[in-house]
Amino acid sequence: MKLESKLPDIGATIFTVMSKLANDHGAINLSQGFPDFACPAALVDEVTRAMREGHNQYPPMAGIEPLRQSITRKLRASYGIEVDPDAEVTVVSGATEGLYNAITAAIRPGDEAIIFDPAYDSYDPVILRFPEYATDWNEVEDRISPRTRLIIINSPHNPSGAILRASDMQALSEIANRHDLCIISDEVYEHIIFDGEEHQSVLRYPALRERSFAVFSFGKTYHATGWKVGYCVAPPALTAEYRKIHQFNTFTTCTPMQYALARFMENSAHHLDLPAFYQAKRDHLHRALQESRLRPLPCSGTYFQLFDYSAISREGDYEFAQRLTREHGVAVIPVSVFYGDRTDHKVVRVCFAKHEATLDRAAAILCRL
Ligand SMILES: Cc1ncc(COP(=O)(O)O)c(C=O)c1O
Repeated sequence: MKLESKLPDIGATIFTVMSKLANDHGAINLSQGFPDFACPAALVDEVTRAMREGHNQYPPMAGIEPLRQSITRKLRASYGIEVDPDAEVTVVSGATEGLYNAITAAIRPGDEAIIFDPAYDSYDPVILRFPEYATDWNEVEDRISPRTRLIIINSPHNPSGAILRASDMQALSEIANRHDLCIISDEVYEHIIFDGEEHQSVLRYPALRERSFAVFSFGKTYHATGWKVGYCVAPPALTAEYRKIHQFNTFTTCTPMQYALARFMENSAHHLDLPAFYQAKRDHLHRALQESRLRPLPCSGTYFQLFDYSAISREGDYEFAQRLTREHGVAVIPVSVFYGDRTDHKVVRVCFAKHEATLDRAAAILCRL
């Protein structure tokens, strides 16, 4: 039987392509965004304990009560806000599901959404200004039509490492109020932020919070990207709509992982150490590549560093990334794939969520280019 494709232009994502190429060529894989080090052993022990205690059946649709309680305590400590764990927090199967539910709840056929290019996923974009990847809020407002319902933001930002600051949040707030827009705020890298900068969650701003779905991922914070557990925080009326989608999408999220996270996250040391932990890796990578012809772009957050390779080659970023993997044994991501129109600034993305030894091995190769 042959199905008529609903998505004829969609192939495998660049992450799948580059990780496979890295495997095929035995290359050091700095392409896909995941750590090559273990998640905390105590967290793994908690999963085993939860399973042995018999937490192996369907949990409540919105997530287990202890995890929603732990999340609200962490939000209070991080952002000084009160959140209702029953009416405002939904545990989901990764931020990917978290974003899907929010987009599906917020927009109807014919509505428009604004997102920024480059972006983790793309459609009808506003271009972030290269090379700082700053947002031009006047351009954002120019793009708004009577049909615009939604703006999707992401800070710290994948792939650029740029962050939104208080002035950005102010500008966003004014625009969203003026045009009565819903906001989806992808905050999966909330704790991976550098140089003393503070993460500007939409939840800190009452005027934004009342119209926002804020989406988080435990995978990024606890070095466990394969667990696919995250959560969404939104006001009660928005959460009610959100849960209607969630219950027919995945319905629930892996029970023992929820118990393990609820217990482990009570100790805040892990996430409070994260900025210094990843900043040290970013700075290590910079030092290791100081003698190379790769030019690092500013990186204020996430575990991704962009490099301008134009002093090495004039070839397109896709070709460069492929050749680097095949011929030199280091896999990276071409940044053009994050643009709807494949804009190519001769920039590649390197994931530095790796052991320093891995970064050193890759840097030794890259310095010879
Ligand atoms: C910006 C951004 N949002 C969402 C996700 C997806 O998170 P999860 O693995 O929890 O689904 C990622 C993963 O790379 C990401 O970089």
